Amino acid sequence: MMLIFGPMLMLVQTAACLDQLCTIDQRYSFKQCYAALGHKLSLQMNLNPSYTDLYLYKTLNDGSRLDVFSITDNKEHKYESIRNRSEFFFDNMTLTINNVIRADSGNYTTDVIDIDMIISSDLQVIVEAPIGSLEVSIICSSNQTSVFCSSEGDQLLYSWTLNGDPLMDGNSSIDLDEGTDGDISCSVKNHVSHAQKTIRLKPCPESTPAAVTSSVTSAVTSSTQTSECVCSVSLVFVVVWCLQLMVLFGLLGAFHIYMRHTSGKKQEDQKVRMRRFREGHEHTAED
Ligand SMILES: *[C@@H]1O[C@H](CO)[C@@H](O)[C@H](O)[C@H]1NC(C)=O
Ligand SMILES: *[C@@H]1O[C@H](CO)[C@@H](O)[C@H](O)[C@H]1NC(C)=O
Repeated sequence: MMLIFGPMLMLVQTAACLDQLCTIDQRYSFKQCYAALGHKLSLQMNLNPSYTDLYLYKTLNDGSRLDVFSITDNKEHKYESIRNRSEFFFDNMTLTINNVIRADSGNYTTDVIDIDMIISSDLQVIVEAPIGSLEVSIICSSNQTSVFCSSEGDQLLYSWTLNGDPLMDGNSSIDLDEGTDGDISCSVKNHVSHAQKTIRLKPCPESTPAAVTSSVTSAVTSSTQTSECVCSVSLVFVVVWCLQLMVLFGLLGAFHIYMRHTSGKKQEDQKVRMRRFREGHEHTAED
């Protein structure tokens, strides 16, 4: 097996919709919302102007209640979990939480007091780590080419295209025929980000015995610079392998010639001896 790593970097696209806006509204039936780890989450509350109080809290797994934010008597109160990293805007009734952490995920509820009524709305917040750097690497084996896409992030969904045509494979790696040629592109997405990387795929060189397998795991996460090293290592290996073959065949050839030469000489000697023997007999017969 032989490894060639990201032969030619062509295009990397990382698009980020990292700051998320979620609405807590009792009228919405789909009450789920994604926030990007380390980024901003804005929670917008849809309220009638007649409201008097608002309480935002989280229900923990054990059923207990964690206060997050409240408005009473037109004054805002932020609780410990968000106090140092949040802002509330009265003009659009939006609570913005900066630098989202994993602990911000959970089941949120707003209780709004509106003309002596309590209106409750729920929202489930799910925190996902956005996609980090995207690496595409290629591994050539005896009869197929495997392309690997690696990235950091939660709940990643992969898709592939070859020369713009979608490939039927939703995994982080894909197997292609040995001679496949063209631009292969790996797209990764989750609920908060997406990224794409395209590399030029070249047919694998003639298959060689297992050699550089050990560098596979380290090379997948390494940079393009390291990949060039891996490439040159492979090239050196091929050259050494070819030289070894040449020396081997050279030795075989020399041995063959030597054998033919010596056996021919033996036959020659035999003939000479036979002739001398016959000549000897002829002489004795004449005598
Ligand atoms: C918030 O900031 C105050 C003072 O700046 C600090 O004493 C407190 O520990 C901080 N709280 C959190 C949860 O970071
Ligand atoms: C709410 O208002 C603030 C201040 O005007 C603004 O910075 C923020 O982007 C607004 N948020 C939304 C979701 O409209």
